[in-house]
Amino acid sequence: MINHLAIIVDGNGRWAKNRGLSRSEGHKAGAQRLDEIISYLSEKKLVNYLSLYVFSTENFERPKEEVNYLMQLFMNWFKKVQKIYKDKNIKILFSGDKTLLNKQIVNATEELETKTKNNDGLVVNFCLSYGSRREIVAATKKIINDQVSPEDIDESLFSHYLYQDLPDIDFLIRTSGEMRLSNFMLWQASYAELYFPQTLFPDFTVAELNKAIEEYKSRDRRFGKVK
Ligand code: FPP
Repeated sequence: MINHLAIIVDGNGRWAKNRGLSRSEGHKAGAQRLDEIISYLSEKKLVNYLSLYVFSTENFERPKEEVNYLMQLFMNWFKKVQKIYKDKNIKILFSGDKTLLNKQIVNATEELETKTKNNDGLVVNFCLSYGSRREIVAATKKIINDQVSPEDIDESLFSHYLYQDLPDIDFLIRTSGEMRLSNFMLWQASYAELYFPQTLFPDFTVAELNKAIEEYKSRDRRFGKVK
């Protein structure tokens, strides 16, 4: 069983381009695919935690129209899924730098977190306005502000100061054939098994996901030890 699965969502733009569609159409298709994956993982109870890289701090550098479209898409989607995820016992968390987001989207994320906070099924952690180095720096500042003494700082305490206190990532998928982490959960992914399918995210069906999970099962995880 995979405790913590992470997906770097990638390839929406190329998917759209291949079809002569706008990038926005690609993101819309990506959102639909994501919805399907979340529902499937929740119903089949295949994982306990799912982290999703949907918008990095670097993504703010994209053309203004695309950033605006994505923010609107996220906001509508977060509102739409509120009741559905509450009823499906899915708990939503967010990781990221809220100071870079506008008030409306921060409100939508906080509302979704509040509405689902008592759920104890699948935990979905959205990394939005997220950068791993920024997260580590923010955690360090919080530790200093709390005047924690150096001898009390260990890995477990440090994890506690990250945006969310989550278990290590077991399996990390990045769609679209790109083979890099792009500043995604560097602390949490230290021992993750990595998987880079060529599939563009809007084509990443449940069947593709199951294929990935099968691949994970065949991996020999040694955590640096000899077995
Ligand atoms: C990556 O494709 C996708 C993004 C940066 C956008 C975010 C993800 C979604 C729209 C999925 C839905 C999420 C929610 C919460 C509704 P890309 O644009 O980098 O693709 P490219 O590399 O082919 O250009």
